[in-house]
Amino acid sequence: MKKVLGHLLVAGTVMMVGAVSAFSADRDASLYAGNKSCGMCHKKAEKGDQLGKWQASPHAKAFESLGSPEAKAAGAKVGVDDPQKSGKCLKCHSTAYNFTEAVATDKITPEEGVACESCHGPGKNYKSKAVMEDQAKCIAAGMVYPATKSCELCHNDKSPTWKADRYTTKAGVKTGFDVEQAVEKIKHPDPTVKK
Ligand code: HEC
Ligand code: HEC
Ligand code: HEC
Ligand code: HEC
Repeated sequence: MKKVLGHLLVAGTVMMVGAVSAFSADRDASLYAGNKSCGMCHKKAEKGDQLGKWQASPHAKAFESLGSPEAKAAGAKVGVDDPQKSGKCLKCHSTAYNFTEAVATDKITPEEGVACESCHGPGKNYKSKAVMEDQAKCIAAGMVYPATKSCELCHNDKSPTWKADRYTTKAGVKTGFDVEQAVEKIKHPDPTVKK
């Protein structure tokens, strides 16, 4: 958590100096591998079918939902005519924009929404079998671990539909995002991996 906030602060400082977006996770877009690549090895039912679980999750529909009347209304408030074409929305609603206001990779289309690598980090250097089987090697090759470090890059009050009371923590406190409960809704564990 601290680390994510640090990232945002650093990115904010960079913006004052250069033209880099204030909302940057500082990830190298040329290292995206794409969901097809991840899905090739992560769709077996006996290993938890991460691809299928993601396809059924809100993240896979993050582009589609920008076409809804609700999205149009949220866009209108900030001067955005067509949310499905605006970097102001797609920076959080698609991996292809890599947290910026422009398309940053052709390995993933904006239509794919928030893909595997928005949470796990660009995978080109960690997706080989030999690296994947060794967690330390994955992290060294750029895997974001735990992936929960990524959530608040998008789940924050810069979201135009942010509701500060969307979640109620176990302690009864209202909050816009509660990582523990949010992970429960999107988790895709591999039952064959010992925890
Ligand atoms: C060549 C096949 C292959 C590809 C391609 C692949 N993976 Fe993996 N992945 C594995 C294997 C094997 C493991 C080890 C666990 C297991 O046996 O299921 C693993 C483990 C993981 C883990 C758990 C890491 C840990 O140590 O907790 C994550 C997260 C993951 N993969 C994400 C991805 C993402 C994201 C992509 C795409 C960028 C990807 N994988 C591409 C085969 C692959
Ligand atoms: C800072 C990241 C961010 C930006 C920028 C962003 N969104 Fe979102 N959006 C989210 C997140 C995260 C959610 C999931 C709900 C939540 O936690 O706020 C979401 C959910 C939504 C929803 C579903 C409604 C809901 O409450 O679940 C709509 C519609 C939407 N966004 C429209 C837009 C539009 C239109 C824009 C551009 C004007 C936009 N978003 C820009 C992060 C963002
Ligand atoms: C919204 C963020 C998010 C997205 C999108 C996402 N994951 Fe994950 N994934 C997580 C979290 C959180 C975990 C729990 C472990 C961790 O924190 O790294 C996880 C765990 C995993 C694991 C390890 C399972 C285990 O039990 O060891 C694999 C494999 C994996 N994800 C693959 C994928 C693949 C493949 C995709 C895309 C099809 C994907 N993930 C999309 C957040 C995400
Ligand atoms: C790249 C931006 C991005 C990242 C990173 C991200 N999300 Fe999301 N998330 C979204 C957007 C956008 C939506 C809204 C999808 C829609 O309905 O259009 C969303 C929706 C959700 C929802 C459904 C709304 C709600 O709050 O119940 C959950 C749950 C969720 N995300 C959990 C997570 C978790 C857990 C992580 C980190 C492991 C994470 N997300 C990382 C962008 C992101």
